[in-house]
This record gives sequence, structure tokens and C-alpha cells, in this order.
Amino acid sequence: STFTPKSMPSALTFDLHAKCSTTKARASTLHLPHGSVPLPIFMPVATQASLKGLTYDQLKETGCMLCLNNTYHLGLKPGQEVLDLVGGAHKLQGWDRNILTDSGGFQMVSLLKLATVTEEGVRFLSPHDGTPMLLTPEHSISLQNSIGSDIIMQLDDVIVTTSPDRARMQEAMERSVRWLDRCIDAHRYPERQNLFCIIQGGLDLELRRKCCEEMVARDTPGIAIGGLSGGEAKAEYCKVVDTCTGLLPDNKPRYVMGVGYPEDLVVSVALGADMFDCVWPTRTARFGAAITPNGVLNLRNTTYANDFSPIQEGCKCPCCRPKSEGGLGITKAWCHHLAAKETVGAHLITMHNVQYQLSLMASIRQAIIEDRYPGFIRKFFDDYYGTRF
Ligand code: GUN
Ligand code: ZN
Repeated sequence: STFTPKSMPSALTFDLHAKCSTTKARASTLHLPHGSVPLPIFMPVATQASLKGLTYDQLKETGCMLCLNNTYHLGLKPGQEVLDLVGGAHKLQGWDRNILTDSGGFQMVSLLKLATVTEEGVRFLSPHDGTPMLLTPEHSISLQNSIGSDIIMQLDDVIVTTSPDRARMQEAMERSVRWLDRCIDAHRYPERQNLFCIIQGGLDLELRRKCCEEMVARDTPGIAIGGLSGGEAKAEYCKVVDTCTGLLPDNKPRYVMGVGYPEDLVVSVALGADMFDCVWPTRTARFGAAITPNGVLNLRNTTYANDFSPIQEGCKCPCCRPKSEGGLGITKAWCHHLAAKETVGAHLITMHNVQYQLSLMASIRQAIIEDRYPGFIRKFFDDYYGTRF
């Protein structure tokens, strides 16, 4: 099949500052309508236009310049009418930094067992009242135009990577390309909102290569790699990311969707990816798990009942920072006490985990700029797993 490449205006600029001399890691800055974002970056997920447990001041304090909202959730509630009335999600939430919205299809397919995909779009039953609904590429873009997010995502056809059905995988990849064309046509504000394509194709490298070629030809301001983080083997995951980044232009941001374990971030950056999102750091906080350079601590474990040190020595988050430095000076023992039943415990650990993820990305970026990323990776794994390679 042949496609006519269409160039579209863009609401971003991408400055590539440094490339690692031995891996594919890059350090760059992404200039978006609501401020500049240092890459590589981890984007916290604020599903319902709120990061569960955090106020926007607290999220700002972590240095977060770009967070995620979901079209699916905002489209259902408050709905398009309210979004149009208030003038978009930034105004609704009082968040004056950048927002990226996912297109909604992935959330429906992963959340709702009843979602079915046809060429038209994704059919599903409203979780509120069970009425049949249809999310088309046009409707997703219209909602994202009303949300006013700085980065909007195409509607894509997502199949779990572990599916053995190659024919369905190919159909989903090709449909995602066709849906991108519909998204491009439907997009009303390309000069203020950046539409990213999403590369699909499962674990099949041939399908991924074909998809990269088609997507790159459409010349969107940024490029995402989707269909991963579905429980595939790490080796397979790495092959897909490596293959895709090898085919993508240097001068655009690359976003691997749904990835957020620290070890995956470190490896994926080495494979040439720049942007990531995942609910795990904030979700796991609500189960009492704190991320540290020495691994994940389950603060509900009774061993922490009389541990009066902070979650992470030297951490700059308000939870760990000592009172003498304007922080809360919270100890593991207090988190342990709270984590069992008090919501404030979840909030404190959420703050810490978001800070951890953003600090990790900042130190990754610094290591790339100073061209010492391989050493950084070795030390990271050494510390995180307490091993030596
Ligand atoms: N989030 C995680 N993976 C995906 C994906 O493949 N597509 C979309 N739209 N969102 C995702
Ligand atoms: Zn902390």
C-alpha cells in the first residue's frame, strides 16, 4: 500500500543536547506550550485529572513538568460540555504545566471486558449506565481538543503482545495506521496541540518495521511505541524497542507507553527512548510500597515498625526531607503505622515515589550529558538488586 505523507504543523520544538557514545541514550529538551521538559522523562499518571492523594502544588514540588490524563475518563466525567465551558483540563484542574492525554482506546480495552473493536472505532458500554457507546478516532481527537492537552495521542488498536494471533496483530497494526490518518484529519488545533502516532505490531519485528515506516512517513511531532508493558519477556520487549528506535528519526521525541519500573526505564533509555508513563509508582504507593535506590520497600512489613530513618536518606521529597530543611521528616516507622489504614500514609509514599522516579530520570539525564551512562547503568543495577555484574 502507498500512503501520501502529510506534514502537519507542530506545537513543540525538540533540542537534542547529547548522545551517549556507547548506548543509544539521548539527553534533550522538549519545549511544549506549557513549559520546557527535560528528557528523558517519567510522566506520572493523573487518571481522573488528579494524582491520587496529591495536590497540584505537591506535584509541582517534585519538579513534574508533564503529567498524564486519560481521555476516556475525562470524556465520561466531567464530559465534553464542561470541558468546553471551562476551557480545557488545565483550567479545570488549575494545572499550568503540560498535560499529555492518552486517546482512550487502550483504557477501554484494558478496563472493560465488553469493549469490541471494529474499523469504525471501539464499542463499549458506559460504565455509568450501560448505554452502548462508540469511540472513533474522530471522537477521541475531538475530546482531546476539548481537553486542550499539550500532547494528544492517536486512537490505536491495541492487542496484548502475548497474543499468538499474527493475523489479528497485523490487522491491528494496519488499522492503527488508518486511524492515525483519521486522527490527523480530525485534529483542529495542530498549532497548539501535538499529535503523537503510536507504533503497534506486537512482538513481531517485521510488523514493527512496517509500522515504523508508515508512521514516520506521517511526520507527527512525536512518536510513541505502544502495545508493550503487557507482561512480555524482557528480551522480547528490548528487541521491539531497539528495532523501533533504530528506525525513528533523531529529531523527534520517542515515548514508550505504559513503562515505569525503574529497571525498565534505565534499560529503555539505553535503547533510545525518551518518555515514559506508568501507574505503578503511584498505585504501589497506595499499597505501602516505597521505591528506593536499593529496591522497593514494603512498608507494611513489621520490620519497619521501629525503623526511625527516612524512606530514603538524602531524598528531596517533602516526606523524607528533615524538618530542619523544611520537610516533614517522616520515618519508615510512621509510614508503617499509617500505611495500614490512614490515607495520609498513601499520600506521603506517593510523593516519595513520584520524587524517586523524577530524580532517577534527572540523574540518568546528567549521566548521559557527562557521557558516563554505561557506568551509571551498572551502579544502578548493583544498588537496586544488591548484586554485582
Ligand atoms: N498505554 C500503554 N500501552 C498503550 C498502547 O499501546 N496504546 C495506548 N493508546 N495507550 C497505551
Ligand atoms: Zn522521599
